[in-house]
Amino acid sequence: MHSSRTPRTPRTGSDVLVIGGGIIGLVTAWRAAARGLRTVLADPAPGGGAAQVAAGMLAPVTELHYGEEALLGLGLASAARYPQFAAELAEASGGMDIGYRACGTLAVALDADDRLHLRELHALQRRCGLESEWLTGRECRRLEPMLAPGVRGGLRVDGDHQVDPRRLAAALLAACERAGVTIHRAGAERLLTTADRATGALLDDGTELLADQVVLAAGSLTGRLAGVPPEVVAPVRPVKGQVLRLTVPTAYAPFLSRTVRAVVRGSHVYLVPRENGELVIGATSEELGWDTTVTAGGVYELLRDAHELVPGITELPLTETRAGLRPGSPDNAPLLGPTELPGLHLATGHYRNGVLLTPLTGEVLAELLATGELPEIARPFTPRRFSAARQESYA
Ligand code: GLY
Repeated sequence: MHSSRTPRTPRTGSDVLVIGGGIIGLVTAWRAAARGLRTVLADPAPGGGAAQVAAGMLAPVTELHYGEEALLGLGLASAARYPQFAAELAEASGGMDIGYRACGTLAVALDADDRLHLRELHALQRRCGLESEWLTGRECRRLEPMLAPGVRGGLRVDGDHQVDPRRLAAALLAACERAGVTIHRAGAERLLTTADRATGALLDDGTELLADQVVLAAGSLTGRLAGVPPEVVAPVRPVKGQVLRLTVPTAYAPFLSRTVRAVVRGSHVYLVPRENGELVIGATSEELGWDTTVTAGGVYELLRDAHELVPGITELPLTETRAGLRPGSPDNAPLLGPTELPGLHLATGHYRNGVLLTPLTGEVLAELLATGELPEIARPFTPRRFSAARQESYA
């Protein structure tokens, strides 16, 4: 026993316990249950988490970075699954629409430095065999007439789309419930282990849940669960993002027809227009621990940069400001699959790509849970890639 409290429920076990009910935990639980596994999920507020803040860009091409070609492959594979995933989820959730919109993206430059940065990104995209087209400033404005006259060029990427993460989370929760996932609305307090394996978790309401396999999928909180042996603690950290939501009145539509983004003075800014008139502007990137305060400075910088790109935003109602925490990992890539502790798996560390990687994460985790084999595509991303370095540091 790991607690002096009397367990509130009989210690009967399930096949799978998922800790964390954000989109990654939910998709894992849904897909596991669909494979016939008796699945339980624990989260005090399932359907919440970073997806409530995220803009929902599906942007493996415009978010490509040097040295992240393996992550690119994972992102492209997950993006390609989205149309089918959205259809399956609509059916499994009883008809819920996740707002998948194949709208494309335009990444633009405002000054010579930004232009050089975009030219380098374009060259990298071409080396990776990706589709993107260089446009002059005038061509950018022809596509998106609300762009500022100062836009000096851009990259048209017709394959980078969007989804509405709030609708995605709601649909995944409904799909879990319909697939028979048992949902405990309580937080996980401690991992339960025997000498050689994970066996379940103690929740903060005193419930003990036992399971043959445990998946930690609690986003940036994943590394904080007590009882996890130090050598398998997920190396994730919170990276704060502040995001704004504006509303485009019907009279102004179409305001933007695709996602517009740029790097302005070294900071990323993007404007994601939804079909329902919502315009999401994001995002700051701040290493401030667990702080989720919306600051005047964060809002000011986002509005200032977005205004430089699209001056007309100042006419729009500002309807929401919010901050969330991305689960950052040491190499910006997710941790997917088994840890060194038998029975304990991770699905976390998705950093800037949680929404994009949701379909693929559900698929590979369910395959692992059902067969014991992690699919080939996910093997470069197992948590074990960090084990060697950590064993040295614990030696
Ligand atoms: N993927 C966008 C962000 O994390 O801000």
